[in-house]
Amino acid sequence: MSHDFIDCKDVYYSYPDGKKALNGITFKISRGESVGIVGANGAGKSTLLNLLLGIIFPINGQVYIGDTMICKKTLPLIREKIGLVLQDADNQLFMPSVYEDVAFGPRNYKLDEKEVHKRVMKALETVGISHLKDRPPYKLSGGEKRAAAIATVLSMEPDILIMDEPTAALDPKSRRRLISLLKEFTHTKIIATHDMDMIWETCERTIIISEGTVIADGPTREVLSNEELMNNSSLELPLCIQNCPICGSKK
Ligand SMILES: Nc1ncnc2c1ncn2[C@@H]1O[C@H](COP(=O)(O)OP(=O)(O)OP(=O)(O)O)[C@@H](O)[C@H]1O
Ligand SMILES: [Mg+2]
Repeated sequence: MSHDFIDCKDVYYSYPDGKKALNGITFKISRGESVGIVGANGAGKSTLLNLLLGIIFPINGQVYIGDTMICKKTLPLIREKIGLVLQDADNQLFMPSVYEDVAFGPRNYKLDEKEVHKRVMKALETVGISHLKDRPPYKLSGGEKRAAAIATVLSMEPDILIMDEPTAALDPKSRRRLISLLKEFTHTKIIATHDMDMIWETCERTIIISEGTVIADGPTREVLSNEELMNNSSLELPLCIQNCPICGSKK
């Protein structure tokens, strides 16, 4: 078994219309690491996450999960290890009720109904939406849908948790609950977001992507506090380390 859990080797990806989205991405992530992926709109974050789950495949280069290279043949094995929360929750919810959606993954693993129920209720409680379990997902608000989408992944208890913009549309209390949850989640996690403060709190390492390439990769506190680097990447310092907006004094 390789020590590196995720190994992205010089990966290129272009969309069918010819748009070059990833232009030679290389990084390794060890088991248990927490990694934030940041970058401007259109930098290639979502494309990269979709490659890690084998939703799309590299045009050049390879992605390994452990010793397994992601390809069509290895997808069932890969999907057992990775849970991905998509950027658009509507793409993740398709059953008649929230409960059914959250139960879908565990049922696919052929777990008995008692275990399925236990996992569903635990996942719903974790994201604070047990009261919505019987509602049809399409009737939920944006933030409620996002919480439900996160629960569909938590119920599968994945080794690797991948989230694309998990805090978008969440109210402050739900965002705080998610941050606490992410801090407790000791497995490997990769989070793409524009929420720098969330990354600051939940990820020990941060990768900045710009125009489909990695332009910085290091400890979160070094990367996100580098004002010049952040400005050049169309990003801002996390609010928690910005100067006071009223008096300008340092925090
Ligand atoms: N289905 C598609 N077909 C063609 N080009 C696409 C498609 N999806 C994304 N792109 C392009 O690929 C590039 C990378 O997009 P991607 O969605 O990965 O960016 P992102 O970093 O996730 O941005 P955001 O912060 O806005 O979510 C962009 O230039 C985008 O316009
Ligand atoms: Mg995106």
